[in-house]
Amino acid sequence: MSPIPVIGSVAGTAAAMSRKAVQVPVIAIDGPSASGKGTVAQLVAKALKFNYLDSGALYRIVAFAAQKAGISWQDEAALASLASALEISFDDGEIYLHNNKGGDDNVSEEVRSEALGKGASEVAVHQDVRRALLDMQLKFRREPGLVADGRDMGSVVFPDAQTKIFLTASSDVRAERRYKQLINKGNNVNLRAVLADIEARDARDMQRTSAPLVQVPDAKLLDTSGMSIDEAVAQVLQWFHQNK
Ligand code: DC
Repeated sequence: MSPIPVIGSVAGTAAAMSRKAVQVPVIAIDGPSASGKGTVAQLVAKALKFNYLDSGALYRIVAFAAQKAGISWQDEAALASLASALEISFDDGEIYLHNNKGGDDNVSEEVRSEALGKGASEVAVHQDVRRALLDMQLKFRREPGLVADGRDMGSVVFPDAQTKIFLTASSDVRAERRYKQLINKGNNVNLRAVLADIEARDARDMQRTSAPLVQVPDAKLLDTSGMSIDEAVAQVLQWFHQNK
């Protein structure tokens, strides 16, 4: 292998690299659960051929791995050390977790369950867990660009994102959408319980002290209550092109 030429100081190279990372465009889409932001974010990423970060999946995996290891969702120190050791990869919409036998387990089905959505919201209140997942999220910022969805993409993880969107819908509309999804998957649920779960999750995500869900001042509000998925995607793309 030929040696890599070193030009300038190491510090200079690092600064140049981080400048380059900053130039990679980011569309940050934050919002409450069941707002449809995951679907919209994936379609926007596909349209632009950008990378996609489902940050909620990382918190879901922490809750999942903790459950398997017998660690409580309240044990901040143990959760943070677990989170920093996790090796997570995404491929074509599937989520993989590296196991101790040297292979990767497809955990997509398990982590997308309602129970782990609640678990994710519980482990996500801990500052040290959020810190442990930060670097992993920053690494998704690669050419030609990134669409990142979550709760704190525009406020904490990518505060310099070119386009920031707060994507929401009324709690009744979100409960209705989630209820239909669950029924279609063969679950036996009732609408009132689904609405109560959504409202409890909103309260926890918005009222926590560490990186709560907020609409930052430079984020555009996209209320999808009366909108189709295609209309929401078209609006995000229009805002992104305006900001270029
Ligand atoms: O987007 P989701 O439903 O998969 O997220 C599950 C939980 O993870 C959510 O209720 C709060 C937490 N979360 C977070 O705190 N920060 C993020 N960037 C993404 C998710």
